[in-house]
Amino acid sequence: TEELSLRPKVLKQYIGQHKAKENLSIFIEAAKMRNEPLDHVLLYGPPGLGKTTMAQIIANEMGVQFKSTSGPAVERSGDLAAILSSLEVGDVLFIDEIHRLPRAVEEILYPAMEDFCLDIVIGSGPSARSVQLDLPPFTLVGATTRAGLLTAPLRDRFGVLSRLEFYEVDDLCDIVERTSEIFAVSIDKGAALEIARRSRGTPRIANRLLKRVRDISQVKGETSISIETTQKALEMLQVDQSGLDHIDHKLLLAIIDGFRGGPVGLDTIAASVGEESQTIEDVYEPYLLQEGYIQRTPRGRLVTDKAYTHLNREVPHT
Ligand code: ADE
Repeated sequence: TEELSLRPKVLKQYIGQHKAKENLSIFIEAAKMRNEPLDHVLLYGPPGLGKTTMAQIIANEMGVQFKSTSGPAVERSGDLAAILSSLEVGDVLFIDEIHRLPRAVEEILYPAMEDFCLDIVIGSGPSARSVQLDLPPFTLVGATTRAGLLTAPLRDRFGVLSRLEFYEVDDLCDIVERTSEIFAVSIDKGAALEIARRSRGTPRIANRLLKRVRDISQVKGETSISIETTQKALEMLQVDQSGLDHIDHKLLLAIIDGFRGGPVGLDTIAASVGEESQTIEDVYEPYLLQEGYIQRTPRGRLVTDKAYTHLNREVPHT
């Protein structure tokens, strides 16, 4: 599908994440020189920054198969045992949202990661037997929004910890231009830059905004996506000048209007805006924190002067 072909296939095509790319390219090259599988890799960071893409690229660069599942999808240890025993030498097994693996399933992973050994119990009660099966050496690539969500024994079994960061505007602009090329549409430099500036440092958001801007530009009959159309489209989509969306506004205003700017606990904010605490923490908060609209304090979240000013509210005296 179009969605899949948007993803770069090799490290050289992957824009941004310079540090992660530089490190991984060395570890991949060294593993290939030794003719060994790559050590297990944990990719962590906010959603939409390219963790799945990076996992696929690791498999491509190593020249091995890519098999993929997710924490919530693996319900029983037998499910994971089936996946593990289907692996071939050097394969990449990608587990998205790996922090959501059930505990009993996670325990199967420890000997699998450490000794390439599968410990399974057959039967139950007095006739239960434990058997051990050898696995081919493989690479586990785990993805999670925060490394801190993993249990210590799981985290300790990854040899490579790689944090993906929000993208620079320049890199996002290159991504928007690359995606436009794949869509076979022309885009003015200013328009690409405007989408990049307003995508919360996140390629997934940039590409989604580009699709909607493309729709409007197409209906208008433009030969190249213009800055005017881009601005109009982003206004229609309720994306503000700094890239904050409707939900970001709702969150900030809930703290300002409901709790005098805070500090207020995450669960209280979640209840007041009707979102899951976990979603706020993983999806919305990281960018608001990075850009200094909110702060985390021991007593909860605090809205900053920058947020008041941004939302055209009077900064309270203290
Ligand atoms: N598309 C989405 N993310 C990308 C990235 N980091 N590099 C290139 N193309 C992308």
